[in-house]
Order: sequence, then structure tokens, then C-alpha cells
Amino acid sequence: MHTIVFATGNRDKIREIREIIGDRSIRVLSMREAGLETDPEENGQTFEENALIKAQAVYDLLQTQRQAGTCLLPAEDQVTVMSDDSGLCVDALDGAPGVLSARYMGRDTDYRLKMQHIMDLLDGLTGEARSARFVAAVAVILPDGTHRVVRGAMEGQIGHTIAGEHGFGYDPFFFLPQYGRTSAEISPEEKNAISHRGAALRQALAVLDEWEAQTGNLS
Ligand code: IMP
Repeated sequence: MHTIVFATGNRDKIREIREIIGDRSIRVLSMREAGLETDPEENGQTFEENALIKAQAVYDLLQTQRQAGTCLLPAEDQVTVMSDDSGLCVDALDGAPGVLSARYMGRDTDYRLKMQHIMDLLDGLTGEARSARFVAAVAVILPDGTHRVVRGAMEGQIGHTIAGEHGFGYDPFFFLPQYGRTSAEISPEEKNAISHRGAALRQALAVLDEWEAQTGNLS
């Protein structure tokens, strides 16, 4: 059995990766479900570095538990660890809030205030001058300990208003010109099909497929 341990406590992320895996016989567990909870400091300068910091911490804990015989996962399981880090990059703000997206203006600050502040900073700019993207990096640590980090992006513009009930975080002001709506106004299915995280997760699974094909470890 191949198991992916996804280094997150976020149930939506686990659901999204399960949907992308579909009916293949790969088990996906959160850190908690795998008994591998850890909370390293994400002090990297890039999404890629932060994703790898988290994945490496979980992988190291897995090795420690396996050596100590305390791991919940069966010893014969092939385990791949994955972790993501994501955020919003606004071109007119030199890529801010970037890796600080969740912490921008304080972790507990209402997103309406964060979005209003960014819209105020872009006051007077229109169209392409408001270009922005959501970025997601996914780190993949394969069962042999080697790693790859992949990236996905969703292009758009900072809107002039806040609209929509779906999604989370900065979605309500992230305007998608091709839809004429924000990413909080399109359905979750529509968003998954074009999202930065979806794109990065699909690439991460391709990395796993490639490794399985090369090593003959087919799941
Ligand atoms: P993390 O990757 O879970 O650390 O979260 C990164 C932060 O980036 C989130 O807390 C949001 O503020 C923002 N973010 C990342 N992806 C999205 C998205 O799809 N919609 C809205 N905000 C997002």
C-alpha cells in the first residue's frame, strides 16, 4: 500500500488531494491521522522553502518513529510525505503579501480588513496594473528520502470590491477576468480545476507516478 501523509491539519486540503487522486489505491492521511504531528517554524523566504521545511519535519519524525518501533503506519507501507505552502502575490506591491499572506497585518486579523488595506494601496490603478496571482508550492519527499518541489499559480487581478461566499482568505477580492467573477464567486469545483493548489498537487502526483515507474513500486 502506498500512503501519502499530507503535512497539514486543514481538512479541505486533504479532501482536495483525495479528489485529485480519485480511485487509485493510494491512501491519504493527515499528519494527525498518521500520528506525525509537528509544527516547525516556517521561516523560509520562498513558498518552496516553507513547503519543504514542513515536509522534512514530518519525514524526519516518521524515520524516528520507525526506528523506535512507535510508528502507527505498517512497516511495509511505502510512505510519501507532501506539504504545501501558498499565498497571494500582488505585482504592484512587489509580490507582497507573498509568504506572509496568512500573517499579513496579524494572523487573526479579519480578511476583510486585509483585503481593504491592499485595495487602498492599489487605489488609482486599473486593469493589468492590478495583476496578482495565488501561488502554491508542494514539496514531495519520496519513500527513499529524495525530494522535489513543484509550483502552481492562478493568475488574476485585485478587484475593486469584495464579493462571493465560497473559498476562504483572499478569494473575495481576487478577480478572474476570464470568469468576470472573483474566486469566491465561482463554485469550489470550478476553482479546483484552475487553482494554484490543484495545479501543484497534480504535478506532485506526477512526481510520485514517475518515481513508481522508475523503481517498479506500483501502487
Ligand atoms: P498556508 O499555505 O496554509 O500557509 O496559507 C497561506 C495563506 O495564503 C492563506 O492563509 C490565505 O491567506 C492565502 N491563500 C492561499 N491560497 C488561497 C486561496 O486559494 N484563496 C484565498 N487565500 C489563499
